[in-house]
Amino acid sequence: MCGIVGYVGSKEAYPIIIKGLRRLEYRGYDSAGVAIGNNSGISQLKQKGKVADLEAYAADKDSSGSIGIGHTRWATHGVPNQVNAHPHMSGDGKLSIIHNGIIENYASIKTALQAKGHTFKSDTDTEVLIHLIEDIKNHEKVSLFEAVRIALAEVIGAYAIVVMEEGLNNEFIAARKGSPIVIGVGRDEYYIASDATPIIEYTNEVVYLEDGEIARVNSGEELEIKTIENESKTPYIHELELSLDTIEKGGFPHFMLKEIYEQPKSILDTLRGRINPETKEVKLGGISDYEQKIMNADRIIIVACGTSWHAGLIGEYLFEDFARIPVEVEYASEFRYRNPIIRETDVVLAISQSGETADTLAALELAKEKGATILGICNVVGSSIPRLTHAGSYTHAGPEIGVASTKAFTTQVVVLTLMALGIGKEKGTLSNTDYHQLITELELIHEKVEKVLKTNDQIEEIAKEFKDVSNFLYLGRGYNFPVALEGALKLKEISYIHAEGYPAAEMKHGPIALIDDEMPIVVIATKKGNYEKVVSNIQEVKARGGRLIAIVTEGDKTVKELADYCIEIPNCFEELTPLLTNIPLQLLSYHIALMRGCNVDQPRNLAKSVTVE
Ligand code: M6R
Repeated sequence: MCGIVGYVGSKEAYPIIIKGLRRLEYRGYDSAGVAIGNNSGISQLKQKGKVADLEAYAADKDSSGSIGIGHTRWATHGVPNQVNAHPHMSGDGKLSIIHNGIIENYASIKTALQAKGHTFKSDTDTEVLIHLIEDIKNHEKVSLFEAVRIALAEVIGAYAIVVMEEGLNNEFIAARKGSPIVIGVGRDEYYIASDATPIIEYTNEVVYLEDGEIARVNSGEELEIKTIENESKTPYIHELELSLDTIEKGGFPHFMLKEIYEQPKSILDTLRGRINPETKEVKLGGISDYEQKIMNADRIIIVACGTSWHAGLIGEYLFEDFARIPVEVEYASEFRYRNPIIRETDVVLAISQSGETADTLAALELAKEKGATILGICNVVGSSIPRLTHAGSYTHAGPEIGVASTKAFTTQVVVLTLMALGIGKEKGTLSNTDYHQLITELELIHEKVEKVLKTNDQIEEIAKEFKDVSNFLYLGRGYNFPVALEGALKLKEISYIHAEGYPAAEMKHGPIALIDDEMPIVVIATKKGNYEKVVSNIQEVKARGGRLIAIVTEGDKTVKELADYCIEIPNCFEELTPLLTNIPLQLLSYHIALMRGCNVDQPRNLAKSVTVE
């Protein structure tokens, strides 16, 4: 939520910041702004809308200067407009701040500041914070670095902030708690951003700020880092392993389509080095020390949100089938607030693409506090969840920039499959024959994914037929029930069509009342997996005039006779079918959204990384 970016050095800051904001726009896009420092002071340029609107607005204004900060916003406090857009200034106009996160106690701080004579222009919590910093700086006669530190000690909430000061043209102050900050280290220059994507084209040396740390970023000096408690820290420089082409569209019209098509590769990257070529044993280096803990766990509790929660549901089927360990899959937001029973013998596994989702992080913190072993499956290297967990496995999907999660989902399912297979084999709950057949299929699944992607043209035709409907129902059973949920989420988030996913057999307990000859129903009806029962559900839909799009196993005849449209996927073990059946549903959502004129990569009201509750 919200992207922040900054530059200090000898180059012109504005073009670097604008480019960085475009790269971070997936994090929020309801307004954007920059503050640039030069010898005349700090000038702020802000605009409602996207980064392109800001650029148009700034085109004829002075944006020269070699220090600057920029922000693209996902509104929390105050409607998205020019006044509420970041950066925000202190009352005396000498300090400027950008902020990602929420200051929970901003109301009481605001009241106290108002009593001292401060007045505010915006409805934001961020403006309150910069006034607090100004107040401390002026009254206690301390440096900006110290004023930020003292102010943050009063603040409750989550934040990543960057603050600059008039006349201090080679330095800004950054701090984080609960929201990410990466500092790129150049030669006599620094870059700063919410993630590494705006930095990678300038330097691959970065410092990840830790929670509770504040950095003084001065272009002529080494980084100085302290904690809020005033303890000095030594910056640790990491080498980025990110390449520029992974964060560009590479000839595709949208990131989402590029990421859908990247799935064979991201699956391979996720599997790479994790299956011994001779023995076929699974080796997930990140969790190998915790294998016994998982094997002996009384329960695995999976916590996640959105698409990652759907992957977790597939994980439940996999762990229970292969490893015979009871699994509970929890919405992180519910789990953290309902006084859950967590024991030391539980393994709590968080799944998150971004590794920053606030609810998932909080659920993990709670589980850690209660003594459970906490593990993670994340995509973004160095993000908060991997830093909090005892151990974990990365998905290696590469950067996912489209707000709708696609390749992250498939790679999460791949890691869950590897984990469940590995534990099942070790525990002896999975026979050798089954294990070897499944592993062989998994190693080659990317080829089948390639084949499914070839259905794209057929799916585009189907999308033409259904682009104007108002509702969609998605049905699946067993391993494909979570896929039905995921298909419905994908459609609603990018096309704004109301869509619901159901276990196919539940249809007759309510949703069947919705079916008429207007209603499209997507059914996952692959062979095995209760196929005959799904066929009965299809008959029930047909009898009520519903229009059917079915995902079937190639060569299927029965469903073909009943459905209006059939999309074939290659034959595959039922346990691995989600890796295939999910793909036509991603493509269907993409084409329908595009035909409806929706912004596929940046759907309204959403943001990629949900760092607020
Ligand atoms: O980064 P995370 O995987 O923790 O994100 C969780 C959800 O916010 C995310 O999956 C969301 O539902 C996606 N927009 C779905 O496409």
